[in-house]
This record gives sequence, C-alpha cells and structure tokens, in this order.
Amino acid sequence: MTPEHSDALVFFGITGDLAYKKIFPALHAMAGRGMLDLPVVGVASSALSRDALIARAHASIEEYGGGVDTAAFAALSAALRYVQGDYRTPATYTALKQALGAAARPLHYLAIPPSLFPTVIEGLTGAGCAGCARVVLEKPFGRDLESARSLNATLHKCFDEHSIFRIDHYLGKEAVQNLLYFRFANAFLEPIWNRQYIANVQITLAEAFGVEGRGKFYEEAGVLRDVVQNHLLQVVGFLAMEPPSASYAEAIRDEQAKVLRSIPPLSREHLVLGQFEGYLVEDGVAKDSRVPTYAALELRVESWRWAGVPFYIRAGKRLATTATEVRVQLKSPPAVVFHEAATAMGEMGNYVRFRLGPEVEIGLGASAKRPGDGMVGQPIELTLARHHTNDEMDAYERLLGDAMEGDATLFARQDAVEAAWAIVDPLLKDGVEPLHYAPGSWGPAEAERLTSALGGWVMPA
Ligand code: BG6
Repeated sequence: MTPEHSDALVFFGITGDLAYKKIFPALHAMAGRGMLDLPVVGVASSALSRDALIARAHASIEEYGGGVDTAAFAALSAALRYVQGDYRTPATYTALKQALGAAARPLHYLAIPPSLFPTVIEGLTGAGCAGCARVVLEKPFGRDLESARSLNATLHKCFDEHSIFRIDHYLGKEAVQNLLYFRFANAFLEPIWNRQYIANVQITLAEAFGVEGRGKFYEEAGVLRDVVQNHLLQVVGFLAMEPPSASYAEAIRDEQAKVLRSIPPLSREHLVLGQFEGYLVEDGVAKDSRVPTYAALELRVESWRWAGVPFYIRAGKRLATTATEVRVQLKSPPAVVFHEAATAMGEMGNYVRFRLGPEVEIGLGASAKRPGDGMVGQPIELTLARHHTNDEMDAYERLLGDAMEGDATLFARQDAVEAAWAIVDPLLKDGVEPLHYAPGSWGPAEAERLTSALGGWVMPA
C-alpha cells in the first residue's frame, strides 16, 4: 500500500439506491481483481445488522453485478462494517471513528441528499475523521451556482482541493473515455472537427424507465440537475475541447472548463421541458409537482472552432427506448455530382456517431454506390462496435479506485462545475412549465420545434 492510498472507504448512504445498483457491484469487481485491500464502513440511519447489510450486498451483486463470485464476495463481506446513526448526531461520528480503528486516511463517499453535505462534513471534522481524509461528493454538486460556491467554501474549511473528488460517473464511463481517445488518438478527425465541416451536434440520453423509487431525490433534482448540468455538459466538453497538452496532469480539466465557460447561459426560447404522465403518482413525488423529467435544448459553444454550430441536447425518463448517443452531423458536399446518391445522403449524410450506452460503439456515416446499374447511392455506416465484456471496468469501479489513489483527473473540477451551473442557472430560475408526454413516447411534440430546420431529432441507432 503506497502512502497516498486511502486506508478505509466510508460510504454514507450505504442502504440507498446508488450503493445497491452501482457501489456493491463495483466493490465486488475490485475484490475480484484483488484491489479491495481496505475496510469498507457503511453509514446510514436504518437499523440494520452487519449480516443484513452483507445480504443486501449479495442481492445487489446478483441483480446488478453480473452474479456473485465466491472468493470476491468473501473478501468484500470480510471488509464490510456498518455504523447506524443519524447524520445530525455527533455520536454517529464517534461510532464511525471507532469503526475506523487504526485507519488514518479514509475516503469518505457522500451518497446522501446534497442538503446534508455540510452537516456531514462538520460531523466528520468534529470527530477528527477529516484530518488526512479524502471526500467524494455525488452529483449534483449544489443546487445552483450560488449553492455550489457555498458548498465548496464549506468543504475548503476542512479539506484541501486535492482531497476533494466531485464525482460525475460519466467521466469514468468506458464509452466517454473512448470518445476522448478517438478524437485525439487519430489524425483524420481534426481537419473536419470544426465549424467549416460540422453542421450540428445532437446528444440524446433516453431512458425507457422512470424514477424507480427515487422520487424523493428526483423531486430535488429534476432532469436539468440530474443529468444535464453534469453528465451531458461534460460530454459536450469532451466533444468540443481543444487538444489537451500531454505534458501536465490538469490539461484535460483545463480544456474542459474552457469549453464550459464558452457556452452562454441558456434561455427559455431554446428549451422545452416535459413531465411524463404518471410521474405524480410515484412515491415521494408531490401531487402537484412541476419537476421536469424531460428536457430538450439548444446551446452554442462560442469559440473560434464552434461559432455558429448548434448543439442540441435531449434527455428524459420513460421515453421510447434506453440509449445514450451523440451524433455529429457533417455538412453536405459542396456540389451534387450523383443525384440519386444525394437523395440517400440527404437522409443520413456524413456523420460520426458515438454510442455511449448501454453499448459502446463508434460509427462513421457515409454514402456508397448500390451494386447494379446506375450511380445510385445508399447510406452505409462503418461501425466500430465494442460489446461489454466481463473485463470491462464499470465507471464506479474506475472512479472509486482513482479516488482511493488520490487521482482526480476524471473528477469534475470546481471551475467546470461552476461554469456548468452558470449555463443552466437561468433556466432553473425561469419557471418554464413542463409539458406532459405519454410514457413510451419521445417526449413532448413541442421539442420538434428546436430541430425542425435540420429535419428533426435523429433517433439513436
Ligand atoms: C444518474 C442519474 O446520475 O445517471 C440517473 O441520477 C440516470 O437518473 C443515470 O438514470 C444515467 O447513467 P447511466 O450510466 O445509467 O446511463
């Protein structure tokens, strides 16, 4: 164990949805690779025995972790401890201190409602658990620009910047990493990756499922805070950033922040919000809630490279399918040589397609001659497909490992978080009414207005 390696993981919110769906499977995978060499202390308010927690971990790994590996699970159960307590009570932190034993450099992971972050940070400091510790904060980091700044100030009273990890799991996703790699490890994209050749960019994060028991969290967040301010703007950053220098560690985060600072605040003319029919009867949702579960918007990156190129984003729950995809659409060739081919091109055109989930794929759209008489074209796609393999690292596994080693490269930096809030802040305060949409549809019909000039939204492949 290197001196920088965290020597315990403390997980606040161990009985919650994130732990169940993502964290137990990630810890199990780490154990399988022989990388879980530290105690894991779960903290939550539920009265639960350690055995019950282990049973919950087992069920989670069965359901979301692709099945239980006996040896890996034995290592994980041996590492698990549980501290029950109210986050507002000092005794909880005294019990935590005791459970930590000799561990002096814990990593505290806060997967709890953001409104409790300051309380927990104070509790940790009061009990002497913050000293050489690191802290991971789940997104959204704050509720808006002002609260993000104030949360940052609270954190900085107890933690150095290099000990703070603002997690956005999209940054750790294999497909998102691949997007960045594909852009900068190949020479052929760079000459066309600009306003001269690119007509528009569309990003769709469609989910066929709803809020799935997370109504209480979702009421605090809504789609803009849940996935737009963080995941989708980070993807825009990777698509639009300038080539980062390889010579210093902060280069990618510098370029990312620069893109976000170049996006002017959004306005209501370029936004459509929606709420799926049936949302109001979900557990934890107010009967008259106006929280949006769908957003479609247009933004601009006002930089030398991107001036004039519209970026469209849409994201929603209970849509027709589950798929996250980026489509970078190129302009048409300058003159029509083959009329039939032009018709086919008109349908699809040249594009670069990044599938970010559930699969990992990259596709290049083109037009080719259909075999036979005449110069008749057909759209084709050169697809570089990658399927999930057992060996693929889940985003949470990668990010947990990085945070334990103190590597913040794949975590959001405060300036980027603030720049992203500055983009969506006016919309959060504008009170745009969400329009109703039918579950299983593509959201409110009104969203078509945003992309009608370019022929509408492109469906994920
Ligand atoms: C989470 C959001 O951060 O990201 C969820 O809270 C959303 O609402 C999820 O479903 C999407 O991420 P992924 O990796 O499952 O596509």
